[in-house]
Order: sequence, then structure tokens, then C-alpha cells
Amino acid sequence: MSKAWIRTAEAYEAACALAADNPKAFWAEIAAGFTWQENWEHVLEWDFQHHDVSWFRGGKLNITENCIDRHLADKGDTTAIIWEGNDPREQPEHISYKELHSRVGRYANVLKRQGVGKGDRVCLYMPMIPDLAIAVLACARIGAIHSVVFAGFSARSLADRINDAGAVAVLCSDGMYRGDKELAVKAVVDEALEECPGVNTVLVSKRTQWPVEMQVGRDHWYYEEALHVGDDCPAEPMESEDPLFILYTSGSTGKPKGVVHSCGGYMVYTGYTFRNVFQYESGDVFFCTADIGWITGHSYLLYGALLNGATTLMFEGVPTWPGPGRLWQIVDKYRVTHLYTAPTAIRALMTFGEDPVLSHNLHSLKVLGTVGEPINEEAWQWYHTHIGKGRCPIVDTWWQTETGGIMISGMAGVTDQKPAHAGLPLPGILPVLLSPDGQELTEPEAEGLLAIRFPWPSMIRTTFGDHQRCVDTYFKPFPGYYFTGDGARRDAKGMYRIIGRVDDVINVSGHRLGTAEIENAINHHPQVAESAVVGYPHDIKGQGIYAYVILKDGDAGDENLRGTILETVTEHIGKIARPDKVQFVPGLPKTRSGKIMRRILRKIAEGETEQLGDTSTLLDPGITALLIQGKIE
Ligand code: WTA
Repeated sequence: MSKAWIRTAEAYEAACALAADNPKAFWAEIAAGFTWQENWEHVLEWDFQHHDVSWFRGGKLNITENCIDRHLADKGDTTAIIWEGNDPREQPEHISYKELHSRVGRYANVLKRQGVGKGDRVCLYMPMIPDLAIAVLACARIGAIHSVVFAGFSARSLADRINDAGAVAVLCSDGMYRGDKELAVKAVVDEALEECPGVNTVLVSKRTQWPVEMQVGRDHWYYEEALHVGDDCPAEPMESEDPLFILYTSGSTGKPKGVVHSCGGYMVYTGYTFRNVFQYESGDVFFCTADIGWITGHSYLLYGALLNGATTLMFEGVPTWPGPGRLWQIVDKYRVTHLYTAPTAIRALMTFGEDPVLSHNLHSLKVLGTVGEPINEEAWQWYHTHIGKGRCPIVDTWWQTETGGIMISGMAGVTDQKPAHAGLPLPGILPVLLSPDGQELTEPEAEGLLAIRFPWPSMIRTTFGDHQRCVDTYFKPFPGYYFTGDGARRDAKGMYRIIGRVDDVINVSGHRLGTAEIENAINHHPQVAESAVVGYPHDIKGQGIYAYVILKDGDAGDENLRGTILETVTEHIGKIARPDKVQFVPGLPKTRSGKIMRRILRKIAEGETEQLGDTSTLLDPGITALLIQGKIE
């Protein structure tokens, strides 16, 4: 990929110009830097109306050959994955490319022996242990479609995802450690599988050595199965457009959607962006703190890093355990050069002051990155001054599960940076700002709805099992564009600042949650008649969750009931979706046609009660005063 490595501002300009002029030639040249088993016939075919897009059609490849085999000759002994356990006293692992090759091959052979093959969906529900990375790659090796579910989701959420994907196998562990918490992973899987008749294989990795129940014929210990197979597994030839994985994410309506990514385009784009955004050089150590259960973990901890033969660090724990210096201790211990984390983690760590930072040596750091939510200026400055010591560029990377890779971001040390701004689009990415009626705002300085007007290789292909939903969500709102759901501002130099979601999605600690999903969970509580959920600004999490709840029979509600409502949400979605504030209310501000005016609920939750705007269309205008009176501080 050396030709595709941009190292100067001039080269960036030239790449943008070429990509805009002749996108097919541009991407063909980048794709040629990868290993293909057969060359493609068409670089790009597309139609946004029905969202029918293909990149490198006719080409054959396997992403794991590019992530592993390709590096064996000159990097076989280089560390591919450093694993740091939850407890700092635990022995870390250093997995070389050679070792990764055999461990992935062995896992792939175990899957095959269980009858899992190309096109089958496999669900992974595991902590951040090496087997998670290995199992993901093993699926890709044999052409099975992986669907990783973050191990913080409840049994019910897991079951929904397994069934929606039609998964035939589940890969998990016995239990897990995360900070001071323990979770019985296999028991959660057992509970989920009571509702998943399609699953006929469960492979269990050992992490905690806890006793677990094993269903004969269905459940197997991975280490026992691994004894029956060899470690050489040929890479399945995949069509460029074959699906590589499904990853569920929340939208503004209904159940989470299974975002589908394809093999060829995803490989080309994540490999290209990893190298250019982070300016990774041989010998560097890349530390992405995201869990593999999220898109950031997929694209940059795992695929993008390995495609570039990088050393990537996988951390099982949390930044604040056993103490607030844990991240800095890891940076020091492994001479980390690249740290990629979320603003919420930075804000949380800032609250401990500089002492935990100063007791560690951070000289190895070269590049800092942030992702997942807008970073406020104060957090940006703290990161820059106290972690980067004023000398490390910060890349504020804007992208989404659906985009597969980074879309708008600085390239470390190559293009300009501006605090709290994601910056310029990457070459080949053509963002626009739209007015609510879909007109492009052509002035350089503008604020509007962020959309993209041309395809890029790693864009969402479909929502699993329901292509129309994909078309309706992303391509219908503004014909001719991919609509992001975000609002943004552009400055005179063309740099973008992301403002946040303009739909009913809230971003809590960098995690996407749909308000409808949380309401649906709350409404399962037997005493709840109706609920409405909105986001509000939160100092650490970016956004907090505010729930307005109407109880049945005019009940007033108390602390106990509030607790049981949180339990219901935990059971239906997971702890991450628990409301921070629950206000019991006698009614909700509805229009005469019965529509909830969320704008008013948002304003009240934000404490901006002076500017409620026009409330004259409300069925019962008196309700707003009652809501303001009972607001939870
Ligand atoms: C938000 C995470 C501001 C945005 C990779 C987007 C950001 C949603 C940034 C996608 C950023 C992501 N600045 N906002 N640098 N990065 N977002 O799918 O609202 O979990 O739409 O993907 O996160 O979240 P997702």
C-alpha cells in the first residue's frame, strides 16, 4: 500500500483531486495494493435510489490473507496482538503474526468441524480476550459472517440479535472480568438460547474457570475441540461483495439494525484509512480502547491495524481500574505510540487531575485519536496538553457503524487540526450540508444536515434481512444522498465540526442508543402506562438519558419503583441503557393528533424552560408547567 500512503499536505490535496475527478482510477490504485485471488471486473457500480452499490465486483479475496498471511514472510515474528488482561498482575500475551496464523487456522478448522461454513452467521459474545479476535478472524477465514454482540448487552438483546441474523453458532466464554465486575457470560448465553432454536453449536473459551452448564450435543469447550484439528486452514475465496460481517446498531425507530459490510470494499477502506489517518509506521504500537463489540474495535483495533501489519493492543479492562492511572500505565508499559479513545474516557480521566498521568512515562506517544461523539474543547485541550504534551497531533475521527471507516478527520501531522473539529473529509469522501428541505448549502461557511453524495468502498451494503429498511433510513430522506443522521457546521476552510444527532438517537458515553428502544424496554414494566425518553447534556457521558414515565392508575411513583424500572431496562437491553433520571409525570405534551412533542421534553430535560417555543398546538398546554415543576436535577 506504499503508493497510497499520504505523507504531506500536498499529497493529500492531490489525492482529493484525483479521487474527485476519477474515483474509479483512484480506488483501483489503492485496491491494487492488497492481495486479490482474482482481479475485479468493475471498480464501482452504484445507484443510491435503491441502494445498489458494488465495489470491485468480480474480484476474489480473503481479508485474513491480507491481515495475516501476507505479513508472514517479513513480519512473521513481529507481534500482531498484545493482550493486556483486566488485572495488571496477570501475564500479558504477545501474539506474533506467525502464531496468529496458526491460532486463527485452528479456530477456523474447529468451526468447519462443527459444520459451520461459508455464508453461515456466527454470533460472538465474549470479553476482550485473544479468542475474541481469533474467532472473528476464523469466521472471516472460512467465509462465515460474524456478528459480534458487545458482552454488556442482556440475554434478551443477545437473543434478538441471534434470531435476526439467523445465527447457527454462538462463540462465548465461561465468564468475564471487567474492572471490579464479573459476569457469567455462558449463563447469559444459555438464557438467550432458550429463545433461539436455530443455534446448534456453542463453543466456550475458558477465561474465568467458573463451572458452567454444558448442553450435550450443542455446547463444547473450545480447547477440547481444538485438539482434534490442525492449524492450517486455507482461506476461503470470497467475492468482493460477499458479506464479511453484521454489526447491530441502534436507529431512531424500531429494533436495532444489522448493518452489513462486504469483504472487498471494507478491506480496502479500513486498510487505507488506518495508515493515513494515524500515520502508522513500522514498529509503532497502536492502542485502541474500544471493545471489539463496536465498529471502532472491528475496523481499527482489528482489521485496519492487521491489514497494515501493525502491532495492536487489546485491553480487557477499563481505564479507571484498579486506579485512574491504568491507561497511562499501559501506555508506559508497552511504549504505546498511538492512543485512540473516546471523549467520554478523556472527560472521566480528567476528573482525577494530572497526578495519575505524571507518574507514568508517556514519551512513546506520537498520535492521539478520538472517536464516537463530539469532543468538547476543554477535553481536547486537556488531552493535547497533558497526554500529548503539546507535541502529538490529535485526530478527531468522525464516522459511523454504517460508514465502516473514518470519513472526516485530520491525518496526523499531515493536515491541519482545530480543537473540537473533525476537520477535512478524507480523499474520496464527498460530504455536503443540507437544509431541512434537502438543498445543498453551497457557501463555504454553513450549518446543516450532514450527508454524503458519492459512494465509498466501506459503505453499508444493506440492513440484514430487510433491504428496504436500509433504503428508507439512509437514502430516502434526501434522494441522491446517504444521510448520516448528524448535524454539522463547516468553517471557511472547509473543516467540519460535528454537532450531534438530529434524530432520536442518543449518544451515551460514545454508545448509540435509540430513544424508542429504551421507551420500549421501560414500557415492559407492569406499572408503566407510557414513557418518553430524551437525551440531555452530561458532563462525562456527553449525553445522559432522561425518562418521563406515566404510571398506570395514576400512581405517583417512588424510589423503589424507579429502581425496578432501571432493572427492567437492564434486563431488556443492558446496563448501558439505564436512564440517569426518571421523572414520574401525570401526562406528556402531545399534539391534538397524539404526537409527543419531544422538542419540549428535551428543553425541559436540558433546563432551558424559558425557551419552550410554541406550545399552542398542545392538547393540554398546562402539562408543561407540571413537568417543569417536577424536573429531576
Ligand atoms: C457520533 C462510531 C462527533 C455521530 C464510530 C455518529 C461523532 C455516531 C464522532 C456514530 C466524532 C462518531 N465527532 N461525533 N469524531 N464520531 N460520532 O455508529 O453522532 O457507534 O453519527 O460509530 O457517533 O456512532 P457509531
